[in-house]
Amino acid sequence: MNVIYPLAAQDRGEILEHLLSLSADDRRLRFGTPASDSEVAHYVEGIAFGRDAVFGVRDEANALVGMTHVAQAGELAELGLSVAEGQRGRGLARAMFRRAALHARNRGIRELHVHCLAENGAILHLAREAGLRIVVDGREREAWLALASAMPPSIGGQLRAKPLALVDAALRTATHDTRARSNAADRALEYDPA
Ligand SMILES: CC(C)(COP(=O)(O)OP(=O)(O)OC[C@H]1O[C@@H](n2cnc3c(N)ncnc32)[C@H](O)[C@@H]1OP(=O)(O)O)[C@@H](O)C(=O)NCCC(=O)NCCS
Repeated sequence: MNVIYPLAAQDRGEILEHLLSLSADDRRLRFGTPASDSEVAHYVEGIAFGRDAVFGVRDEANALVGMTHVAQAGELAELGLSVAEGQRGRGLARAMFRRAALHARNRGIRELHVHCLAENGAILHLAREAGLRIVVDGREREAWLALASAMPPSIGGQLRAKPLALVDAALRTATHDTRARSNAADRALEYDPA
């Protein structure tokens, strides 16, 4: 079972350490550009805890080995995530992805955006699995996941990816009252990929 932890401002140091441990190529995949150490530090310093949500996964030694940032802008949110190289292929990104989508639904966020390079096979795989529609748009893609209601345990939903911009309006309207709903599901911090 992968335990997903909410992270807070006091975890900035660990988040920075994790992101700086990513290779140049991973940083390029994560940020869309081969971010320098100072750019990564600037990014971490700028995370708006309180407005945004950040989730992490830890190894047996309690070291942070993956993190997901759900940056919120009104009813939209953008998700960025990474997993340490030695921990990949174990479902950690999948677990964080689903946790982030659950959080977004429970916050009344209607669309979850995921920017990724067209070559990013792992993220595209996870996106397809979650029901996202994949559209090739040059070397970069912007995938928009329209979120269903806050209640279902699975992601469910529709994706629109520029420039096709296909979103199921019915799913979007189902989210209007999610802020009033219980956050009980959002407090469930454990996800079992099995
Ligand atoms: C993308 C990333 C987060 C995936 O982390 P992870 O913990 O290995 O992901 P998971 O184990 O949950 O799932 C990966 C899935 O993608 C599949 N996959 C991996 N590489 C793939 C590829 N090149 N093409 C297709 N599928 C691929 C895996 O087989 C796995 O699917 P499965 O469980 O059905 O077999 C990690 O590789 C990473 O940190 N990359 C650098 C940063 C980045 O690209 N971030 C995303 C942009 S915001």
